[in-house]
Amino acid sequence: MASLVLYLSATVLLAQSTVAFNCSKPPIYVDIHKRAVHDSAVFQYGSFIGVGSPAQNQSLWPSISQNHISFAAKGYCDNSSNRTNTLRDCSKSTGGFFSSDESHTFSNKSNFQSLDKSTNTSFIGTFGQDNIHLYTHYFETDGASQTLLENSTIEIAQSGSVTPSILGMGLSSTVLQDLVSADLIAGRTYSLYIGQGFDRAAGAVNGSNTFGGFDSGRFTGPAHQYQMDTSKVNPMTVRVKDIYITDSKDVNSNVSLFDTAKFPSMKARPDDFDAQLTTDQYPLSLPYEITQNFMTHLGAEQDNYWGDNSLKIKNGFSGSLSIVLEDGFVVTLPSEVLVNASNITPIQNREEGSTAPFYLSAAFLGQVYLMADFESQTFFLAEAVQKNNAVMPQTFCPRSIPVAYERPKQSAWVSQGLIGAVIGGVLGGAGIAVFVWCFVLGCKRRRAEKKAERELEKGRQAKFAQMEIEEFDPPPKTSTPFFWKKR
Ligand SMILES: *[C@@H]1O[C@H](CO)[C@@H](O)[C@H](O)[C@H]1NC(C)=O
Ligand SMILES: *[C@@H]1O[C@H](CO)[C@@H](O)[C@H](O)[C@H]1NC(C)=O
Ligand SMILES: *[C@@H]1O[C@H](CO)[C@@H](O)[C@H](O)[C@H]1NC(C)=O
Ligand SMILES: *[C@@H]1O[C@H](CO)[C@@H](O)[C@H](O)[C@H]1NC(C)=O
Ligand SMILES: *[C@@H]1O[C@H](CO)[C@@H](O)[C@H](O)[C@H]1NC(C)=O
Ligand SMILES: *[C@@H]1O[C@H](CO)[C@@H](O)[C@H](O)[C@H]1NC(C)=O
Ligand SMILES: *[C@@H]1O[C@H](CO)[C@@H](O)[C@H](O)[C@H]1NC(C)=O
Ligand SMILES: *[C@@H]1O[C@H](CO)[C@@H](O)[C@H](O)[C@H]1NC(C)=O
Ligand SMILES: *[C@@H]1O[C@H](CO)[C@@H](O)[C@H](O)[C@H]1NC(C)=O
Ligand SMILES: *[C@@H]1O[C@H](CO)[C@@H](O)[C@H](O)[C@H]1NC(C)=O
Repeated sequence: MASLVLYLSATVLLAQSTVAFNCSKPPIYVDIHKRAVHDSAVFQYGSFIGVGSPAQNQSLWPSISQNHISFAAKGYCDNSSNRTNTLRDCSKSTGGFFSSDESHTFSNKSNFQSLDKSTNTSFIGTFGQDNIHLYTHYFETDGASQTLLENSTIEIAQSGSVTPSILGMGLSSTVLQDLVSADLIAGRTYSLYIGQGFDRAAGAVNGSNTFGGFDSGRFTGPAHQYQMDTSKVNPMTVRVKDIYITDSKDVNSNVSLFDTAKFPSMKARPDDFDAQLTTDQYPLSLPYEITQNFMTHLGAEQDNYWGDNSLKIKNGFSGSLSIVLEDGFVVTLPSEVLVNASNITPIQNREEGSTAPFYLSAAFLGQVYLMADFESQTFFLAEAVQKNNAVMPQTFCPRSIPVAYERPKQSAWVSQGLIGAVIGGVLGGAGIAVFVWCFVLGCKRRRAEKKAERELEKGRQAKFAQMEIEEFDPPPKTSTPFFWKKR
């Protein structure tokens, strides 16, 4: 009898755990690129998010360790009133400014206790609550649509030394929790491609956030699964077992920075090491011996051009650096990332005996698509598709494994006047795939002045150049029902 009760309650629990998530909820896609922000004349790189009513638009840098969404107070860059501000080019680097007194939905929550484990966020803030506007903007030629998240907890940075406009996507992210509570996404899942369109990376590729989902067009190959370590400030930690450098003139010239024969100053092969994933800095922070070997092998020396102690190569080098994780997943930083025109590398100097954590940071995440399932405390890494041809946000059902979009090989299907395709696939509970194909018909002729028309055309061409429209198969005939959505 007891075992029957146990069995029954176990069944109920199981049923509850599958019912708890509504995996037909579409995800919320928010792109990351340079744009106009409130109270600044300069375009800034970040996630397209507004705050307050009326909305004050910002560019927020995603963090996978911090838990709060934060905005720079209007006076963040002042040095008056005993504030010390050391952020370089402060007035054009904060990601925007927020004036809470200009928002009629703002309320102060000065008693709110920060959920961040490390109080060392390098800025001092106060808490409040306001509306957050998450903008989805697929194509330059189209307007943005918004998801409104009402009365969410926000932090207002009053003074500090860092860029304070942060989208906190850590383990206890208030934004993610509030999106779930407001029933706007399926569960506490989130995916990130940080991109390379910011100054330090000096690239062109833009990034994206997907709340409650992932962009299946943004990665390729299998999603490698890892367990979060919730005791750490950065719960997403991986183990590195090898790092090698390949000269582009000779692909068989791989030199392992762990190799004692190549680097006889080491008495034994260095141990595998744990490295925390982070967006809080650009350069990678590696163990001392490995950093030394990198410097010896490539003739690199200390430098601080970007204020982040990135090493500089004296005589140039053309080749890549590959990082091998414990499960065999290899992430390669290509030549244009390893040694940019300036010869500054994405590897940070390290002092002997330093006990600072090791980091696989933004330079690493520029090559990798990160998908996090906070409900089951797992995360996935996969090779990022740098030049994606279509944005394909899909629901990331908690406890499921994200699968990359399979590019069709034949049977071309092209539609007249198609600028780009957004395909949102939503997986139903019973495993029936319901694909919602949204074709964003970008260029409805706008009866605007000639000048505006020409600008539109310019933007459209730029997008064409980037997207090189891929030919898609029509939705599989077997998977009914499906919807065609045209806008
Ligand atoms: C699940 O979400 C979809 C889309 O928002 C909605 O139409 C449906 O009613 C929801 N189902 C349940 C059981 O809440
Ligand atoms: C600034 O700091 C000085 C000394 O630390 C103090 O005497 C003064 O009252 C402070 N001024 C303000 C505006 O807080
Ligand atoms: C504020 O003061 C700090 C330290 O004195 C200085 O480095 C910084 O450039 C100043 N910032 C501004 C915006 O004046
Ligand atoms: C919220 O209230 C506290 C305490 O009254 C105050 O110090 C803080 O400046 C207020 N924050 C905002 C953004 O108004
Ligand atoms: C806090 O952060 C600053 C800047 O990143 C760093 O120099 C300092 O050592 C940190 N302090 C602690 C206690 O971690
Ligand atoms: C903020 O962005 C939204 C979406 O693009 C736009 O509709 C709105 O006008 C912007 N607000 C301001 C003040 O520029
Ligand atoms: C948000 O807060 C305002 C003012 O406190 C309240 O009127 C409104 O109903 C709240 N909205 C939600 C969705 O809780
Ligand atoms: C620097 O690296 C970025 C990122 O890969 C690349 O796209 C860009 O072309 C490089 N810039 C120069 C000047 O080499
Ligand atoms: C990234 O976004 C910027 C700003 O909207 C745009 O100018 C640029 O073309 C985009 N880059 C790519 C590769 O799409
Ligand atoms: C050297 O590294 C490249 C990737 O950078 C890899 O494709 C190749 O197989 C490696 N060669 C050897 C001999 O290990």
